[in-house]
Amino acid sequence: MTIPRPHIISMAPYALAELSAPEGKPLISLSQNESLRPPSPKVVVAAAKVLERGMLYPDPDWTALRHTLADRHGIEAGNILCGSGSLDLIGCIARVFAGPDRAVLAPAHAYPFFQTAAQMADARFDTAPEDAATVSVDSMLDAVRADTGIVFVANPGNPTGTRIPKSELICLRAGLRPDILLVIDEAYGEFADHLDERCFDLVQGGNTVVLRTFSKAYGMAGFRVGWGLFPSAIATELRKVMNPNAITAVGQAAARAAVEDDAYMRETCAETANLRDWATAELHQIGLTPYPSFTNFLLIDMGSAAAASQADAALRSEGIFLRPQSGAGLPHALRMTIGPKPAMQAALNALRHWKETAT
Ligand SMILES: Cc1ncc(COP(=O)(O)O)c(C=O)c1O
Repeated sequence: MTIPRPHIISMAPYALAELSAPEGKPLISLSQNESLRPPSPKVVVAAAKVLERGMLYPDPDWTALRHTLADRHGIEAGNILCGSGSLDLIGCIARVFAGPDRAVLAPAHAYPFFQTAAQMADARFDTAPEDAATVSVDSMLDAVRADTGIVFVANPGNPTGTRIPKSELICLRAGLRPDILLVIDEAYGEFADHLDERCFDLVQGGNTVVLRTFSKAYGMAGFRVGWGLFPSAIATELRKVMNPNAITAVGQAAARAAVEDDAYMRETCAETANLRDWATAELHQIGLTPYPSFTNFLLIDMGSAAAASQADAALRSEGIFLRPQSGAGLPHALRMTIGPKPAMQAALNALRHWKETAT
């Protein structure tokens, strides 16, 4: 029998949301941090236009998309790499910078794919305690070891929703050895851009990467387009391990149209923030405590792991799916995406009912 490499055998498959509504109930999924509204109509038009040229391979250098992103953010087009979602870029980064002799470090409640990427690279995955589900720079620096190769920090974080200011990221970078790559994953960055704390300038130091995605604020999770700003030398190495042609021509055209319709994306962020504030107030009324959020989701403290799993089961029986968080070391919490208002209302009603009837 052929035998896979031992580090692959010991891995668990990446856990995506389980979504199967009981018979007769409509499925309400608030489990994957998808946008509450579809992509901009301009995105749909741009994507459709490309379909008739589907016999051609896509631009392997994402030229038009990179230049559109560069103009929008005031960054160098030559330092942008695009991937099939930011997942793709995270995996490539781990492939290049992590391995049996180079460990990966992340906060205790980090986005679980950071660990998966480390495992795929056969690298040890270390974590640093957080402070009230918020990244602590001191604890991250304390957790650095002689063989640490990459530090991943999502800011804002998933599943926590919390955020640290740019000044703290600057302290983190300053405290890390120069040979350690710092990856700042800003998958939810657009939801916090009104704070005017963009981090792209940190890339100039030569050992920091900033990642973004079209999956969240742009409502394009199904298109699978992520991107990042990389120091030139790092981009050169990463290109060697990237799947060529990983982003379809449709994805590239759609993403470009999305960047050009900035107003639509901002409206999505504003609508998301309004619904998040409303849901936060409702949750407090129900007697549940959400963590502060700078994203399109709320992490809800259910009081205990048992309460979280009971509430999750009660909601599932109604066809309503939030996301349990034991995998991220938060078994007492459920994560609720800020979805369309009727879906949110249904979830809040179910949580209220569960809370009133819970023993
Ligand atoms: C922190 C974080 N990084 C990366 C991703 C992956 O996003 P993409 O759809 O771009 O692969 C997600 C998706 O939920 C995320 O929450």
